[in-house]
Amino acid sequence: MDLQLLQKYDIPVPRYTSYPTVPLWKIEETNAGHWIGEVKHSFEKQREISLYIHLPYCENLCTYCGCNKHITKNHLVELPYIKAVLKEWQMYLQHLDSKPIIKELHLGGGTPTFFSPENLSILIEGLLQKAEVPYKADLSFEAHPFSTTYDHLKVLKELGFNRISIGVQDFDEMILRIINRYQTTEQVKIVTEQARALGYESVNFDLIYGLPKQTPEHIINNVKEVAALKPDRIAFYSYAHVPEVKKSQRAYSEKDLPLGADKLQLYRLGKALLEKESYYDIGMDHFALKSDALYLAARKKNMHRNFMGYTPYHCELNIGLGVSAISDCWTAYSQNEKTIKTYLNAIKEDRLPVFKNHFLSTKDQKIRKHILNLMCHFETDWLADKENFSFELQHAFAGLEKDGLLKVFPHQVKVTERGKSFIRNISRVLDQRMSESEGKTTFSQAV
Ligand SMILES: C[S@@+](CC[C@H](N)C(=O)[O-])C[C@H]1O[C@@H](n2cnc3c(N)ncnc32)[C@H](O)[C@@H]1O
Ligand code: SF4
Repeated sequence: MDLQLLQKYDIPVPRYTSYPTVPLWKIEETNAGHWIGEVKHSFEKQREISLYIHLPYCENLCTYCGCNKHITKNHLVELPYIKAVLKEWQMYLQHLDSKPIIKELHLGGGTPTFFSPENLSILIEGLLQKAEVPYKADLSFEAHPFSTTYDHLKVLKELGFNRISIGVQDFDEMILRIINRYQTTEQVKIVTEQARALGYESVNFDLIYGLPKQTPEHIINNVKEVAALKPDRIAFYSYAHVPEVKKSQRAYSEKDLPLGADKLQLYRLGKALLEKESYYDIGMDHFALKSDALYLAARKKNMHRNFMGYTPYHCELNIGLGVSAISDCWTAYSQNEKTIKTYLNAIKEDRLPVFKNHFLSTKDQKIRKHILNLMCHFETDWLADKENFSFELQHAFAGLEKDGLLKVFPHQVKVTERGKSFIRNISRVLDQRMSESEGKTTFSQAV
């Protein structure tokens, strides 16, 4: 049964970190002035915001990587980049009529710990100077185990950081060598233990299934290491293979990639073993211990998903600073200039570095609500607006129900346990923009 399902559903589909997905934004409407107007409007309704900072540099290229990064060993790039980010922040602040309350702050990349603790300190102090940070705020960063030092952890803790996300991917040396990533299990252990000792409340591990030459034995070993270190959260990502876009993924042979049924088996094995270790399945590809804030938010149906992933709060205004960073003010999206050169140039010329926008139509907003519900809670309903499903939706839902992925009720759908592995396909049936695009974009496979 699952093999038949795979043949039908293992097709390229978006991961739905936004709706519409970035390649399908209506970019001809791009207008920095209009964007700022929408930001101001959102801020007038709610002063609580979420802030994302993209720190793009890495010393070494991991060939599997799908992120926007720039490889260099020259650390003189740090300070000019930080100054540009702080200037961009000032450009936003001048449009806000009072101090923002930073509910969430996340440093992503690239590699935030490429930057020295001193320079990160300049960045964070500059960002927080004209903002309020409530006692229960979430401040987090992506910690590459190879470059995260005790000083990074200590300085960021002193600045208020309480969560870290460690990029593990796999514990196996051979796999790490194939993807050109150099870190040891010992380094993961040290960063985890130092973070705990310093009082970080939550440690996340990023793990990936579907990496080249990865087998069930690797997944068993990965969960064994997880069981020993007990991170609070785990992101268990599906390897996204898009060599047309990320050329470095051509460094290894496609013949070595576990695909289709083999890849699904790796996920199911990982999930079963994690559940045995008391991790609960929350949202797509994510697991958490019962004591973690994200588990509680998922159970209370407060969990939200934005460009940074799953979060326990829902701030309508998410501002992304830095090259290629994406912002969302609930009625509009904005992406910054995608190369460091064009980003720094815009800032130098005192221009907001907007590369492209999408302004959400009323229909986009309705569809986004349902896709978010599916991605966060595995169910959604049309009870409040008492809308009937359109003929096309009825037809699509009936097909998914027949395949055992969904239960359809009057004005409501609930994803089944089997359907959870195909949540991207289920969301896809609601995606009107993709239906209209006639497959003009590249997405990774559903599994
Ligand atoms: C910005 S990256 C990593 C942060 C940091 N530079 C590091 O390497 O530890 C954030 C996460 O994206 C995930 N990721 C990157 N490329 C991916 C891909 N092609 N498929 C699936 N996940 C990917 C990895 O799990 C990674 O830890
Ligand atoms: S995985 Fe992390 S360190 Fe490796 S290239 Fe990507 S962003 Fe850089």
